[in-house]
Amino acid sequence: MAVKPVLRMGEPCLLQKAQPVTQFDSPELQALIHDLEDTMKFMNGAGIAAPQIGVSLRVVIFGQKPTQGEDEQKNPRYPDADIVPYTVLINPVITPVGHAMATDWEGCLSVPGMRGLVPRFERIHYKGVDQYGNTIDRLVSGFHARVVQHECDHLDGVLYPMRIPDLKDFGYTSVFFPNQEMQDE
Ligand code: NI
Repeated sequence: MAVKPVLRMGEPCLLQKAQPVTQFDSPELQALIHDLEDTMKFMNGAGIAAPQIGVSLRVVIFGQKPTQGEDEQKNPRYPDADIVPYTVLINPVITPVGHAMATDWEGCLSVPGMRGLVPRFERIHYKGVDQYGNTIDRLVSGFHARVVQHECDHLDGVLYPMRIPDLKDFGYTSVFFPNQEMQDE
């Protein structure tokens, strides 16, 4: 288990369609999830997808595990965001619920130091399985829906800058938010 280097935009692995997982509850899958967990925690990410550490499989993790003595913990990169439960999501399928879109700032560990305004479906239904093959089936909205759409895009080789309608809304975090102490990534 280790913190892995996060691939940055331009790497071919980030632009590929990742393969479905077919073997569950295996030591290899468990090791991958631990690596993703360690890397996400180290980088203070809201989520991370397997292709970001060079593994082209349909695996994402996101959300926060409650820490000792706390029922909930805010992500330091997104302090105003709602709590998203820690989730291992494999072979996900997303279905938008309604047509409503919401636009908000996004960053990505693979696009360090940048932020952009990205429209996403406000409400989605997502299905998939965890590392043991147990079904995950949720109806979510807001930040939770945004995180899932962002992470699952990674599995299809899509990075958030590709979804910014106006590139004037893409730039350096330190320029857009000069007075906020935000992580570099
Ligand atoms: Ni990302």
